[in-house]
Amino acid sequence: MKADDIRQKYLNFFANRGHKIIPSSSLVPENDPTTLFTGSGMQPMLPYLLGEKHPLGNRIADSQKCFRAEDIEEVGDNRHTTFFEMLGNWSLGSYWKKEQLGWFFEFLTEVLNINPQSLYVTVFSGDPQNKIPRDGESVEIWQKLFSQKNIAASTVELVTEKQGYKHGMQDGRIFYYEAKKNWWSRSGVPQNMPSGEPGGPDSEVFFLFDEVKHDPKYGPHCHPNCNCGRFLEIGNSVFMAYQKQTDGSFKELPQQNVDFGGGLERLAAVTNHNPDVFQTDLFLPLLDKLETAADVSYQKEAPSLRRISDHFKCAVMMAADGVIPSNKDQGSVMRRLIRKAMISMRKISLNYKDTTLIGELVQATATIYKHAYPQVLQQQKHIGDVMAQESQQFSTALDRGIKKLESLKEVDGKVAFDLYQSYGLPLEMTEELLAQMGQRVDRHTFTEEFKKHQAISRSGASKKFAGGLADHSAKVIRLHTATHLLHQALREVLGGEVRQEGSNITAARLRFDFSHHQSLSEDEIKKVELLVNQKVKENLPVHKTIASQDEALKSGALAFFKEKYPDKVSVYTIGKDPKTDWWSKELCGGPHVASTGKIGPVKIIKQQSVGGGIRRLYAELTD
Ligand code: SER
Repeated sequence: MKADDIRQKYLNFFANRGHKIIPSSSLVPENDPTTLFTGSGMQPMLPYLLGEKHPLGNRIADSQKCFRAEDIEEVGDNRHTTFFEMLGNWSLGSYWKKEQLGWFFEFLTEVLNINPQSLYVTVFSGDPQNKIPRDGESVEIWQKLFSQKNIAASTVELVTEKQGYKHGMQDGRIFYYEAKKNWWSRSGVPQNMPSGEPGGPDSEVFFLFDEVKHDPKYGPHCHPNCNCGRFLEIGNSVFMAYQKQTDGSFKELPQQNVDFGGGLERLAAVTNHNPDVFQTDLFLPLLDKLETAADVSYQKEAPSLRRISDHFKCAVMMAADGVIPSNKDQGSVMRRLIRKAMISMRKISLNYKDTTLIGELVQATATIYKHAYPQVLQQQKHIGDVMAQESQQFSTALDRGIKKLESLKEVDGKVAFDLYQSYGLPLEMTEELLAQMGQRVDRHTFTEEFKKHQAISRSGASKKFAGGLADHSAKVIRLHTATHLLHQALREVLGGEVRQEGSNITAARLRFDFSHHQSLSEDEIKKVELLVNQKVKENLPVHKTIASQDEALKSGALAFFKEKYPDKVSVYTIGKDPKTDWWSKELCGGPHVASTGKIGPVKIIKQQSVGGGIRRLYAELTD
């Protein structure tokens, strides 16, 4: 089955069950300083899971573009990718376990025609320490569902992975595991959740690839959560009904939510009867180009080809959402992906240098997503330029590193680290080149240097995000309303063609990206700052209204997301009257202060160029 069909069938299935379908949010979260990328479908839904009313109602479904940095090192096996699409449906206090599990089972077995004999499920075994009961309700529902297919579904208490490896399947169909496996929150198990964070028990569905042999290196027996690849997790229904309190206890949320997420790539692999997610139409066009260009076969070089195709595709999708390679934030992750892909390319075909291949890979990605994300195709030229420039730069640096290495008499661990640090030449490559010269690197010294460097950059990163998390609610909201004032002030001072390109707000400062062809003069910055502060002094009320996208745009609201909007949108207006006397109007998810006086004085502290005709301003509160 084609991935496009699976996505469409899923969205239709849930639309027929009262869900409103919303477009994917950007890979770069708007107004969420706590994370660089959207890593799950629920992230953009957070305010609604906590009780804010969603403009479209209490049943929502989508397919969300996601990126998970923690999976970078795993890429190379047959099922991990950094970029993936998560099919999601949400009940915001509407339906509960019976509907959710029943519908997902029906979707798998009736719509995708997956054999129910190959499906195994897991449920939450309870957390006595946090007084959260086990999920017997889901077990009963699953037993009924399997019995309708004439499958006896006995339960097995595995609880830990260790027990799983020790005792194995025991002819079970439904498996109890502890919170480590069957509890979901953005920060993992209950003990790790910060106060205010929502979470809940979950129930996962696994597909068994019977033809895959269990690998005893993981443990004597296989079980659904075994990592050998026999079982593939294809969907997770989270019953998000709890919130952690400041005293560490768990309280039920005012509404019982369902948060479902299922990986599109994995569903495609299952319907394809092949456990390799790369052998689906979401990757094959990229692999095709790579095999031809490097004259290698997938069979021989699968891990490298998987890495290259995953990393390039991911970088393309980031570029389509406005990310540009740099040494900071999202840009640095994109840069790392491109570099890792290039290094893998050199490994399979060492001196391979051909920028036409980069263009072909961009085009292949744009074609894969031409229906789901047409903006990739629309921006193909820009993305191609960004990718080619970055790859060329790195290629040149690599060449210089290799030349430098060849000129050195001896390469110890410290020199190898310098080569890595200054030229981006990875240790593996240094080793490979040295081996050709009959030398070896002292890995220990290299690792020591590497750790020292990592510790320095890590402490920098945690400092940066601590501020954003500390008082998210007050300062961040004030700065968020300040970005709306800044946006309008820039348009008044520089011209109406100025367009917001992104923003990122921590408690310490706001960062605002916008389109403008040149740097701002001091005078312009002063004018913008004065105008913002004047509007703060006027203490203008901030109104929120819900409107159809058409109405909102017709009434003059600014919109700057890269995707299409859903039918109903929320609009924030700043001014005496939201209809007749307003100064700023934007499509925005909020939250905002009630009136601009609450923001207090604002100061622009820095401007930068981000490249590609985009400028960046930083501003802070000065009270
Ligand atoms: N939030 C859950 C996950 O990411 C389900 O959507 O797995």
